[in-house]
Amino acid sequence: MKRNQKSRRGARVESRGKKRKATVTRRRSAVVGPRSSVLGPRSSVRRPDLGVEIGGIRLKNPVMTASGTFGYGTELTPFFDLNALGAIVVKTVTMHPRQGNPPPRIVETPGGMLNSIGLQNVGIDDFHRQKLPFLRTLATPLLVNIAGKSVEEFADLAKRLSDTEGVAGIELNISCPNVAGGLDFGTDPHLTYEVVRAVRQTTPLPVIPKLSPNVTDITVIARAAADAGANALSLINTIVAMAIDVRTRKPRLPGATGGLSGPAIRPIAVRMVWDVAQAVKLPLIGIGGIMTGEDAVEFLLAGASAVQVGTANFLDPLAPMKVLAGLEAYLVRYGLENVTPLIGAALPPNRETE
Ligand SMILES: Cc1cc2nc3c(=O)[nH]c(=O)nc-3n(C[C@H](O)[C@H](O)[C@H](O)COP(=O)(O)O)c2cc1C
Repeated sequence: MKRNQKSRRGARVESRGKKRKATVTRRRSAVVGPRSSVLGPRSSVRRPDLGVEIGGIRLKNPVMTASGTFGYGTELTPFFDLNALGAIVVKTVTMHPRQGNPPPRIVETPGGMLNSIGLQNVGIDDFHRQKLPFLRTLATPLLVNIAGKSVEEFADLAKRLSDTEGVAGIELNISCPNVAGGLDFGTDPHLTYEVVRAVRQTTPLPVIPKLSPNVTDITVIARAAADAGANALSLINTIVAMAIDVRTRKPRLPGATGGLSGPAIRPIAVRMVWDVAQAVKLPLIGIGGIMTGEDAVEFLLAGASAVQVGTANFLDPLAPMKVLAGLEAYLVRYGLENVTPLIGAALPPNRETE
């Protein structure tokens, strides 16, 4: 496999998010929105520029929602203005609707949670019919996370989204630990390459594989995805784990194992971003246990250009807004005009940059 991301990246696509109409029903009284700057409306201090670019998609700030923790967006509209987010990533969409795994599907663990949702979702047809009409009213870019059972199904799903107004990019879930075969594409570099290449050849949209931490060396998978033409990488998905009830002496999840998320996995995720940042030159989206602005900064310092907030949404639906406000406060505190000086600042000094 050749490392040719640079040339492939030359053929980048313009974000389709630009086409999206900005007719949004704002519920100002109940929402925390872009005006919630730590600087207040009359401050004479210049607000930092939080904008970043991820694989050809321009984001007004680096804070996104993580797939599966934010539904299809509508669920969170009572809490804040979704247009304040850098991007929205929706629950994984599959070719056919899925009921998901039998309950219980969530177990609380120290510093995090185990889930075994099993990719419950409405399927691509109803996603188009029921979910996209609302999502495309938003001005913030929409990343649709997809999972196929085969290389061909991944490509078909990508095709079904390619001519769809309001989709800015595609995140490939090659890393779900809670369905049969869900990890196959993200743990074998050859399959990673095949699936990313097939999707890359099918769609003009930016393609963002989401990497699994359930591997010996995540950089091998990252390189395979980069070689196949990925525009950016998201990492990490959940870590396969389990909890046992000592009273019943049985696993607490019916399928025994689940995916661990939350602050407990953050140091692992930061380390993986740090490793991958040194292995490929793609923009990275850091995910794993982000609860505060400073957690997000940690991922940026490790080499991420953007972050996703996941489990924190279950504790506090305003979590993404609080992460954003905390990030802005950090930039102000350190006199930084934008996030660029933070990206990769903790990496060894000899790292090549584009
Ligand atoms: C309840 C739950 C459901 C999830 N569903 C999905 C999903 O459908 N697709 C996906 O790519 N990741 C899914 N994830 C993984 C998250 O997007 C994220 O990668 C992971 O939880 C780590 O981030 P966090 O610690 O901030 O939650 C899910 C996570 C949780 C907790």
